[in-house]
Amino acid sequence: MNTPRKLAAGNWKMNGFRADLQEARNLASDFADPSVDIVLCPPATLVGAMAAALVGSGVRVGGQDCHVKPAGAHTGDISAAMLADAGARYVIVGHSERRADHGETSAIVAQKATAAQSAGLVAIICVGETEAERDAGKTLEVVIQQLVASLPETAQASNTVVAYEPVWAIGTGRTPTRDQIAQVHDSLRDHLPDGAISLLYGGSVKPSNAAEIFAIPNVDGALVGGASLKADDFSAIIAALAQA
Ligand code: 13P
Repeated sequence: MNTPRKLAAGNWKMNGFRADLQEARNLASDFADPSVDIVLCPPATLVGAMAAALVGSGVRVGGQDCHVKPAGAHTGDISAAMLADAGARYVIVGHSERRADHGETSAIVAQKATAAQSAGLVAIICVGETEAERDAGKTLEVVIQQLVASLPETAQASNTVVAYEPVWAIGTGRTPTRDQIAQVHDSLRDHLPDGAISLLYGGSVKPSNAAEIFAIPNVDGALVGGASLKADDFSAIIAALAQA
């Protein structure tokens, strides 16, 4: 059986200007480990420039969202085909910030993932519970429901990555315990159609906790926010993943 690839993905969110492309170049020159796939997802304005800056480096570029359609009258939106055309290889879909800020349902996320796959991109599909849902004992129910409804039938390891990001752990410095992450990842793994789909953990991953998180079974990598903005920090996280 194929095993999942190790993957470190950086989500720059709404951060980054052309001057910050140097961080991406630094990361690329810092790190080249064939055992780890590395992706940086800058804001859409930088996708093309970053892809050009990283040609030949082994560090790939991703978008943070895409429209469900390949083209058309959708002012302000960007299609998966356009991201691919700009040099992206991945796109994040269903991040909790988009689910919350833009009312994206799992049904929409599944359409976006399908659009990504049709354009030849790998869809990084995000799921995660809020603090209230965890406190109510509903974590597994919520994340599995999100996964099943967000995952297109076409999902396989070559076109899909799944990221578990507890909403309450994003940007807060708080992380779930080892057992809490293990429980969710084991359950997600059981519901994936292809055992080689990479399963990422996201939420306050930093150099100081990366090794501990990567030692958890069924954690194949991380989706990193704040710590991906600095090449030194992201490199340290990638190094921990390479050694896991
Ligand atoms: P932080 O690593 O800043 O907590 O963000 C996680 C995240 O939302 C990545 O998509």
